[in-house]
Amino acid sequence: MSLKEGYLEKQGGFLKSWKKKWYEVKGTTIYSYKKKGSEALSQIPIRPKYTVQACTEGKKSHCFKINTESRAYLFAASSDKEAKAWISTIKELISNSSSSNASAASIKPQGSGSIAPNKKLSVEDFDVISVLGRGTYGKVQLVRLKSNAQLYAMKTMSKRRLAESDQIEQTITERNVLTQIVHPFLVGAHYSFQNEVKIFLVLDYVPGGELFGRLKEEGNFSESRVKLYSAELLLGLGHLHSLGLVYRDLKPENILVDKEGHIRITDFGLAKKTAFGETTNTFCGTPEYIAPEMLLKQPYDKVVDWWSFGILIFEMLTGLPPFYDENVNTMYKAILHVEVEYPSGMSGPVKDLISKLLDKNPKTRLGAGPTDAEEIKAHPFFNGIDWKAVYDKKTKPEWVPKLKNGVDVTNFDEEFLAEPTGFSFEDPTLLDTDTQSAFAGFTCVADSALDALE
Ligand code: ADE
Repeated sequence: MSLKEGYLEKQGGFLKSWKKKWYEVKGTTIYSYKKKGSEALSQIPIRPKYTVQACTEGKKSHCFKINTESRAYLFAASSDKEAKAWISTIKELISNSSSSNASAASIKPQGSGSIAPNKKLSVEDFDVISVLGRGTYGKVQLVRLKSNAQLYAMKTMSKRRLAESDQIEQTITERNVLTQIVHPFLVGAHYSFQNEVKIFLVLDYVPGGELFGRLKEEGNFSESRVKLYSAELLLGLGHLHSLGLVYRDLKPENILVDKEGHIRITDFGLAKKTAFGETTNTFCGTPEYIAPEMLLKQPYDKVVDWWSFGILIFEMLTGLPPFYDENVNTMYKAILHVEVEYPSGMSGPVKDLISKLLDKNPKTRLGAGPTDAEEIKAHPFFNGIDWKAVYDKKTKPEWVPKLKNGVDVTNFDEEFLAEPTGFSFEDPTLLDTDTQSAFAGFTCVADSALDALE
């Protein structure tokens, strides 16, 4: 039940621009939505030490401010009466959170995307169970938080390696993206912290392994199975775009399967914040999935994700991406100049969808319009899909991972499972002070991280 709801304008903590959103107070949390009834975009959990007051500093009328340990949130209501009503509701919330939060130091994970009350964690708070995967900057391990026995995936990254490859800013973006996410098809973060040599992201554990592993084992998937996976991916990517983020790294290795067989997109290390209509030009991603405009080093936007989405649909149906070649240069040439050839078994609607997503011209590509994912949802391939049932995970997946118990990791690559668990030693004296200070503030709770992106 919502205690108060309505449109408010809020000043971003990062871009300082004002954005109008629908806000709703439920429990002791303020949720924001693009509009009434849409999916939650972000949340501000109210804590006992917060204060709220009317203010005049926002160059807007009817302003009020919520002060937290880390920043102030500035809001503008439609009238003084409305501003007063919000202030009194939030004051009540603050006093409610004081009484219901007597054990603020204990950790109460609140599900995907929300970070628990401000308790500083360290690796010592976790038992490491197994290695799940490895990336350029470190590894992902299955861990158990000692205090509540909850399982998480802990991503560990070496500060030295991040600094050497200029990835510090990107890592902070990843943390910010993760802490902002509350979505059924996107991996969320629970905690982040650091020690002298490493940074740690504590993420949802998704036990069914990578879609990459499934595809390797099964060769390809039926069209009906691809339809649900792509519908879920479409909602996840659409949500990221609605937050002003381009994902830029869609591929089967970054898609995990949950215990019921639904998918979750992970690894936001390449995600990029762009203002509406803004383009960017960094060349990144994985060769098979790179859009032509990125290859041509042209400015690009979120539409690159719809290109990779088309590549992925083709790959799920056939087992290989459409322009694949062992020689990367030949593959790049094919991405730029070759038209896709479709196997005879593919249905007309899916061929049509793929061809519209793999439009080499980003301006006419499906999804390039202002409604983004909505344009793709309306394609005939998705006819008959109940999008609400998909979002609510009420549509049953065809494949459900077999899991003997909560810590059954047999769906992950054996290569990683064989690795010793733990944290490799790195000499902290090798890190310069600039690198250390670049991570200042990385240890976070959800609301401070939330701000940086809004
Ligand atoms: N959550 C985030 N990354 C993960 C991974 N690689 N395996 C399982 N769960 C995860």
